[in-house]
Amino acid sequence: MAVERTLSIIKPDATRRNLTGKINAVFEDAGLRIVAQKRIRLTDAQAGAFYAVHKDRPFYGSLVSSMTTDPVVVQVLEGENAVLKHREVMGATNPAQAAEGTVRAQFAESIEANSVHGSDSAENAAIEIAFFFSQIEIVG
Ligand code: TYD
Repeated sequence: MAVERTLSIIKPDATRRNLTGKINAVFEDAGLRIVAQKRIRLTDAQAGAFYAVHKDRPFYGSLVSSMTTDPVVVQVLEGENAVLKHREVMGATNPAQAAEGTVRAQFAESIEANSVHGSDSAENAAIEIAFFFSQIEIVG
């Protein structure tokens, strides 16, 4: 299995409730290494650009504003099969459908305030990592 990197975001609903450490523990317990991490506050323009793929969806405006209310923690996670492994420990988008023990089952407040983002493919991971990090900030 290949060692991969994926882009993770701990969303405002989770940083507001001081859950960064608890969520990082779930990732680390799953064998994912945090090889880059920073706490930033997204502007409307940055959140809009990051979620541009959803711009025609009815929830886009609300999703974008929800990403700017509090800081986010953006991170690069590394490990074997990291993209899929991270998606598994995040749980389903809708926390009502998320498997027990997943981040979203434990912490998410709603489908929008669902505590975490994770890249959905290796290709998108490369794009999303480059959106937030330069090579020099990633230390494997
Ligand atoms: P999506 O890429 O479908 O989910 P995931 O985050 O699991 O990859 O959607 C991106 C985000 O958009 C999702 O985390 C929360 C928000 N969203 C809504 O607010 N309402 C919705 O009905 C959906 C599908 C997503």
